[in-house]
Amino acid sequence: MSQHLVLNRTGDKMPLVGFGCWKVDPQDAEDTIYNAIKAGVRLIDGAGDYGNEIEVGRGINKAINEGVVKREELFVVTKIWNTFHAKENVRPTFEKQLKDLGLDYVDLYLIHFPVPLKHVAIEAAYPPGWYQPGKSDDIEFERSPIQDLWREMEKIAESGAAKNIGISNFNVQLILDLLTYANIKPAVLQVELHPYLQQTRLVEWVQKQGIQVTAYSSFGPASFIQLTDDGKTAEPLLGHPVIKEIAEKHGKSTAQVLLRWSLERNVAVIPKSMNVERTKSNLDIFSFSLSKDEVAAIGKLELGLRFNDPFSYGFGLPLFC
Ligand SMILES: NC(=O)c1ccc[n+]([C@@H]2O[C@H](COP(=O)([O-])OP(=O)(O)OC[C@H]3O[C@@H](n4cnc5c(N)ncnc54)[C@H](OP(=O)(O)O)[C@@H]3O)[C@@H](O)[C@H]2O)c1
Repeated sequence: MSQHLVLNRTGDKMPLVGFGCWKVDPQDAEDTIYNAIKAGVRLIDGAGDYGNEIEVGRGINKAINEGVVKREELFVVTKIWNTFHAKENVRPTFEKQLKDLGLDYVDLYLIHFPVPLKHVAIEAAYPPGWYQPGKSDDIEFERSPIQDLWREMEKIAESGAAKNIGISNFNVQLILDLLTYANIKPAVLQVELHPYLQQTRLVEWVQKQGIQVTAYSSFGPASFIQLTDDGKTAEPLLGHPVIKEIAEKHGKSTAQVLLRWSLERNVAVIPKSMNVERTKSNLDIFSFSLSKDEVAAIGKLELGLRFNDPFSYGFGLPLFC
């Protein structure tokens, strides 16, 4: 099996397995990213919102400067946050992110969420997150159409400063609309995908449009324990008996089975780990494959359970309805 997905327009090869930077503490980020690259990671999935781009960039540049890897062997992804959707804010935000990362270009620039939040100046708060400074229990929107944002994303792609552009947390309705005006088709859609939220129709339709799919939160509840105070959780997937049985059969870990399950759907994965041994094992998912019966058994675990839902963060935005 190939270890890459080929992206439309550029033909760039995006590694099927990467490393996610969400919740990597800035004080650990430089070492964590450097060690992940040394362990073999070639795709780094970051975002302005993760609050660690300076340190992630240091880790990347340390690995490049020490000759561990060449820049062109890495695939760096970042995302534009919700408060920067207005057309005049897009390029300056992107430039800040490039500068923070200490890079001349990124390989993929994604719209983090299709949610136009009221602009917060970089000097006022960065990253600003969902809440507006001075307000604790509500969010404010601004009138920034995705179409205008996409035009600016296209300009960044045309300039070569982001080799590819794409979207995250978009549903079919929005993508269908975007495809009516896009001069550059999104290269990638990044969404939450795991056995409890399989979104099979979305994945298959998006892939048919020539857009590659990346799964985030492949381990389901594993990274959301602190976020769900509404009881919206489920048996940890990493310890689920069905996943365990399959893992034992293959002599693999449950984490490797969960990642391999996405690969069986031609979907890329970006697991995050603070432990370099786990990161190494998360990369080692090409030496086995799941049988049709095993994929079917995992198919039965569907619960329609979404963890990364702004609605559950307490400000009443039912984004995925
Ligand atoms: N576009 C979006 O809106 C969005 C949203 C969420 C996430 N993402 C991206 O997707 C990435 C991954 O998603 P995620 O951070 O939600 O979590 P995840 O990768 O599904 O899970 C991370 C959790 O799993 C543990 N873990 C990792 N490898 C393991 C292994 N081999 N065995 C056992 N436990 C393991 C980690 O603990 P340790 O660190 O202790 O190993 C951590 O608690 C993010 O970092 C981010 O880049 C994007």
